[in-house]
Amino acid sequence: MKVGIIGCGSIGGFVAKWLSKADYFELVSIFDIDREKALRLAEELKVNVAENIDEFLKRDMDIVIEAASQQAVFDYAEKVLMSGKDLIVLSVGAFANEEFYSKIKSLAAKLGRKIFIPSGALAGVDAIKAMADYVEDVILITRKSPSSFDGKKGVIFEGTAKDAARLYPRNLNVAATLGIAVGFDKVKVTAIAEDVDENIHEIIAKSKFGEIKITVKNRKMEDNPKTSYLAALSVIKTLENIKGNIVVG
Ligand SMILES: NC(=O)c1ccc[n+]([C@@H]2O[C@H](COP(=O)([O-])OP(=O)(O)OC[C@H]3O[C@@H](n4cnc5c(N)ncnc54)[C@H](O)[C@@H]3O)[C@@H](O)[C@H]2O)c1
Repeated sequence: MKVGIIGCGSIGGFVAKWLSKADYFELVSIFDIDREKALRLAEELKVNVAENIDEFLKRDMDIVIEAASQQAVFDYAEKVLMSGKDLIVLSVGAFANEEFYSKIKSLAAKLGRKIFIPSGALAGVDAIKAMADYVEDVILITRKSPSSFDGKKGVIFEGTAKDAARLYPRNLNVAATLGIAVGFDKVKVTAIAEDVDENIHEIIAKSKFGEIKITVKNRKMEDNPKTSYLAALSVIKTLENIKGNIVVG
C-alpha cells in the first residue's frame, strides 16, 4: 500500500519512521510547509520530498496521512480526495466546521473515497461509537501541563466540542473526534492546565445500555508535549486495520 504524509512533525515523523521499516507499506512521499523539516526527514529515510501539495499529490499513492494542522485539512482535503486517494485525518477539529465537514463528506461519497479518523489520543472511541445512537451525553475532561496552554493555569476552557476544537486546534482535536462519533451537541468539554506529567483525557459517556468511564494517561512526545505517543500509535493501528483481513476495534 502506497502512503504519503503531510506534516513532518511529531506524529508525521514517528509514522514515517515506522512506515520506512514496515512490510506491505511503502512511504512514497512527504510534504511539509517547513521545507527544512521535510528535507531532514527525507534525508534520514531516503524518501521523496515534495515541494508543494500539487507535486505531492501527483505521486501514485493509495492513502495520504494528514499530520499537520487544521488549516492543512481545510486547504488540502478536497485536493487529496480529488486526486483519487483516501485520507487519514489527525487534525480532526477542522471537521467541527459543519459546512466544511458536510462538503468533504459528500465529496468522499461522490468519489467513493474514504476518510479515516483514528482514535488519536483517546481510548474507547470504538465503544462510544458503537452506542452512539443511544448516548445521552459525553463529558471530556482534558488535563495538560501549562506549557501546552501558553503557560496559563487552571480551567482553560468549558463548553461545546465545536468551540473546543475551533479555539484550541493544537490541543483539543480529541473533542472533535468524540463530536463526530456521537454528534457534536452531545459532547461537553473541560480543559484544565495543571502540573501533570502526562496528557490526561477522562471520558464519561452515558447511554441506556450502560456507562463508559475512561481515563487515558498519555506519555507526551518529546518534541511536542501537546501531542501524545498514543496519537501516533493510533495512526499505525488505522493503517494496519485498513490493510488487515481481521480488524479488531
Ligand atoms: N486527533 C488526535 O487525537 C490528535 C492528537 C495529537 C495531535 N493531533 C493533531 O495532529 C496534528 C499533527 O500533530 P503533531 O504533534 O505531529 O504536530 P507538529 O507541530 O509536531 O507537526 C506538524 C507539522 O505539520 C506542518 N504543517 C503545519 N501546517 C501545514 C500545512 N498547511 N501544510 C503542510 N505542512 C504543515 C508543520 O510545519 C509541522 O512540521 C496537529 O494538528 C495536532 O493538533 C491530533
